[in-house]
Amino acid sequence: MSGVFVVFEGGDGAGKSTQVRLLAGWLAEQGIAHRVTREPGDTWLGGHLRHLLLDPASGPISPRAEALVYAADKAQHVDEVVVPALSAGEVVVCDRYVDSTLAYQGAGRRMDLAELEHIARWATRDLRPDLTVVLDVDPDLAVHTKAEPDRLEAAGQEFHRNVRRLFLELAERDPERYLVLPGRDPREQLAATVRERVRELVERNA
Ligand code: TMP
Repeated sequence: MSGVFVVFEGGDGAGKSTQVRLLAGWLAEQGIAHRVTREPGDTWLGGHLRHLLLDPASGPISPRAEALVYAADKAQHVDEVVVPALSAGEVVVCDRYVDSTLAYQGAGRRMDLAELEHIARWATRDLRPDLTVVLDVDPDLAVHTKAEPDRLEAAGQEFHRNVRRLFLELAERDPERYLVLPGRDPREQLAATVRERVRELVERNA
């Protein structure tokens, strides 16, 4: 596949959407064809699944069911959005991917990581990002401003500490394919660091 696949990961409120927007703005300025997307939710099916997953009114969802619904979103997303864009040579900028399953369902819900990874890799045809940017924020210092947190945001501090730990562990295992940045650094500074890594990938890919 000829495009470049860039994923942003991190805890809730880490600033991913801002960085996705800034990177997309730079790609547009450079005239680089790109596609901004996210999981869960960026397909018709995914939109419905996102609603079911995050709406507090869904009530308790069994952790295995939750993992499978996230996997279904990924399967549809990879087939409908990510693979076609990469095949067209575009830079795909994706807000969350497989690592979110490992962090939230694995470390957060305490499910077996190897089993979850198997399911998520099957769902995504084992398509791996060229670069994963982890925006790291201590959940104990995160500012909680939302009056109505969604199902995952409401999961508690211990859950979110485990999520953070797993993102950092995944990044440590494969430094070539990860960039870990302190999410509280000034956003323009973060964006500049991300741009440099993406520029290298795009040039190498040309
Ligand atoms: P978002 O609000 O950053 O778009 O993410 C939605 C929520 O879904 C967020 O709390 C993280 C969670 N999530 C998982 O638990 N597993 C996954 O595989 C993905 C993609 C997201």
